[in-house]
Amino acid sequence: MKKAEVFIDGKKSVDLPILTDTMENQALDIRALRQQTGLITYDPGFGNTGSCQSQICYLDGEKGILRYRGYAIEDLVEHCDFIEVAYLLIHGYLPNKKERERYSQLLNRHSLLHADMQSFFRRYPENSHPMSILAAMVVSLSAFYQIDLEEDPELQIDLTVTRLMSKLRTIAAFSYRKMKGFDFVNPSHTYSYCANFLNMMFSSPVVPYEPNPIHVKAMNKLLILHADHEQNCSTTAVRLVGSSEANLYAAISAGICALWGPRHGGANQAVIDMLEQIHNSGENLSKVIERAKDKNDPFRLMGFGHRVYKTYDPRAMIAKKTCEEVLSAMGTSDPLLDIAEELEGVALEDDYFKEKNLYPNVDFYTGIIFRAMGIPTNMYTVMFALGRLPGWIAHWLEWHHDPFERIGRPRQLYMGPAVRVVPPINERE
Ligand code: CMC
Repeated sequence: MKKAEVFIDGKKSVDLPILTDTMENQALDIRALRQQTGLITYDPGFGNTGSCQSQICYLDGEKGILRYRGYAIEDLVEHCDFIEVAYLLIHGYLPNKKERERYSQLLNRHSLLHADMQSFFRRYPENSHPMSILAAMVVSLSAFYQIDLEEDPELQIDLTVTRLMSKLRTIAAFSYRKMKGFDFVNPSHTYSYCANFLNMMFSSPVVPYEPNPIHVKAMNKLLILHADHEQNCSTTAVRLVGSSEANLYAAISAGICALWGPRHGGANQAVIDMLEQIHNSGENLSKVIERAKDKNDPFRLMGFGHRVYKTYDPRAMIAKKTCEEVLSAMGTSDPLLDIAEELEGVALEDDYFKEKNLYPNVDFYTGIIFRAMGIPTNMYTVMFALGRLPGWIAHWLEWHHDPFERIGRPRQLYMGPAVRVVPPINERE
């Protein structure tokens, strides 16, 4: 095994093993570092820290490659539906026809929500953000569908995974109906996973509704694009909360909260807000780019940049193509797509964006597709969460079976006052 020698003040202190992964990437194994040298590592944002060994997702940020369990994202989007990809992530292999059918039946069987949970929805204010409802409802599942690990732990985990996969879709659709003030529509076993979701969202007692096959196909693609992305912020939250042995529902709810932020999944909503603002104000695109570069202006070009991708995000490429296909198949256009494409062109020609390798990420074009499907802006991050769920579950399961797993507990450099003595209250300034 290769190793690195660490010298402190010119004196050799420790040999650290160098680990090599399947793709020949190397990592310094620092587990013995503190014990043998007293030193810890300092890595805010964990840009250089490998927190686990994983078999789920591979991404090469320099080459723009993304694979789930070894399959290229382009291949999966073209040849699978979301449920097959969810099965792949969770079980490690693609289902055959029989397994696929059995999985659909299982998801249908668990898709209803406890009637008492439905009454929760009615108490949320009309203007609640659906992400807050989603996170709260998912953690509430642990009260209604308790996990009894005394029984048969693996069977209980299987059941919880299935419930989550099936019920998150129902919760997501109900949160939209609540927002609109409409009655809830229960899931129906006659529809596929995505068509079922669209039916629960848009079905009406007064106007006949049938899910549009163009929307169903687009939704499958979008959910696949979002299904996993290795150790991103929300997946790390799921693993970290899981590492305390909090239950699976609680860990997924933490992932939903982490996803909500505009630097992460919330960016898809922020992109549309930005494009609408440009559209309504007629602001010059060069000015928008100048604002994004100005360090005194908090504004950033939303849907651009990524911690790992230093080239075009492969998901953004698929989303852009899907966006053009959906609008063309629907025989419609969207001025926001024209603005987005123009804005991308201006940014990619700009030296600041070139030097910092800032390219469109997954969130840049997906919102325009959701818009075409009639999904309101504040539901976009909910759609991201629906897609990311199998990835979160797969990572939680991997953590659960990891022989090296320990509670997640980083260290710190303490920069506060060394020692102070409490003065009596009347002597304090
Ligand atoms: N617009 C303008 N400048 C940017 C942008 C942007 N969108 N993104 C990064 N930069 C600059 C940043 O100011 C910094 O400049 P400097 O080196 O002069 O300080 C440099 O590029 C590196 O950025 P960083 O913030 O240190 O990079 P990071 O890896 O910590 O952050 C990011 C990655 C995605 C949070 C960031 O690029 C960003 O805020 N993008 C906009 C929000 C967004 O689209 N998020 C979705 C990410 S993809 C989907 C997901 O993860 O959910």
